[in-house]
Amino acid sequence: MWRYSCSYVARTASNIPLAIDHRDIHQTKRHKYIVLSARKLTILFLPPFVLFKLVSYILRSIFYENVAGKVVLITGASSGIGEHLAYEYARRGACLALVARREDRLQTVASKARQIGSPEVIVIPADISRIDDCKRFVDEVVTHFGRLDHLVNNAGIAPLYMFEDHMCVADHASVMNINFWGSVYSTQFAVPHLRTSRGKITVIASVAGWLPTPKLSIYGASKAALISFYETLRSEVGSDIGITIVTPGLIDSEITQGDFQAKVNRKFVPLVTTERCAKAIVNSTIRGESYLTEPAWTRVLLLWKVFCPEVLNWCNRFLLVTSPKTSQSDATHKKSL
Ligand SMILES: NC(=O)c1ccc[n+]([C@@H]2O[C@H](COP(=O)([O-])OP(=O)(O)OC[C@H]3O[C@@H](n4cnc5c(N)ncnc54)[C@H](OP(=O)(O)O)[C@@H]3O)[C@@H](O)[C@H]2O)c1
Repeated sequence: MWRYSCSYVARTASNIPLAIDHRDIHQTKRHKYIVLSARKLTILFLPPFVLFKLVSYILRSIFYENVAGKVVLITGASSGIGEHLAYEYARRGACLALVARREDRLQTVASKARQIGSPEVIVIPADISRIDDCKRFVDEVVTHFGRLDHLVNNAGIAPLYMFEDHMCVADHASVMNINFWGSVYSTQFAVPHLRTSRGKITVIASVAGWLPTPKLSIYGASKAALISFYETLRSEVGSDIGITIVTPGLIDSEITQGDFQAKVNRKFVPLVTTERCAKAIVNSTIRGESYLTEPAWTRVLLLWKVFCPEVLNWCNRFLLVTSPKTSQSDATHKKSL
């Protein structure tokens, strides 16, 4: 029995590595074959795909959606990008529902939007981080106008701080509640109405959603979550609802006013005006584009992230965390908020 067991162990021990070797060799061959096929397919597929993108861009630029008389709900319309989105839609004759917490600001935006050309504007004060508020404003819009054509998820906050310096966990949660959950709640209640109207969702994420940006770790994470959520939703709803994901760079709004630029040491980055950003967003939405990055040059940074992440990290630390005038310890312990 002992001899049998020993010989069995010896046989098994000598067999196992051989069997694994065979499997490994087979797997490696398969992986090499897949990589080679993927490369060949990409090279073959790329030229017709680029042509297809060009043709569809031209077609979309000619046959874009006319939003006159359509109903557009904009969150965060009391200032900045949201305010100017309201004016852009008003210029095109859309009916508007404006949502934010500051009612007085919303009323001012509403009266200007009416003057510019919107046939009807309603104002709904609400906090998008509250699920009941989101249900209420979507219901109110549909009850008032009888339909919903565009939902623009724009409301957001961008607190600036080094992660280590800010120990208040509740603040991290509030960023997610407004930037991520606020958009998700509004979308959840709006989707049935948007399916009926074959409408559109525009979501204002941020370049910080795919570009590591010091002092915006939680903000960047909330925007990355948004991008991931809406990319997945796009696959689920198909052509019933168009989804445009917008990733703005630095835009001249309330968020970036005051001492923001000094805090993030970004004096060298030119700010885009809210008017220009809003115009690009509405144009992109009515053309049915899937993505918009404004200003367009920031897309170059995505290539840096893919091909030379170390260089990007070095630039981030040199330009945004430390500077020639700031010592490393000063920079990492300085409170930004
Ligand atoms: N400016 C930039 O450089 C930049 C870059 C990338 C992305 N973005 C994104 O663009 C969006 C608009 O920002 P902005 O630059 O236009 O800044 P903004 O002028 O500060 O506008 C933010 C808007 O969100 C609203 N809001 C904030 N919390 C809210 C809440 N809990 N419930 C309802 N509304 C709320 C604010 O209105 P109330 O305070 O009246 O509620 C305001 O109308 C944000 O999502 C931001 O993350 C901005």
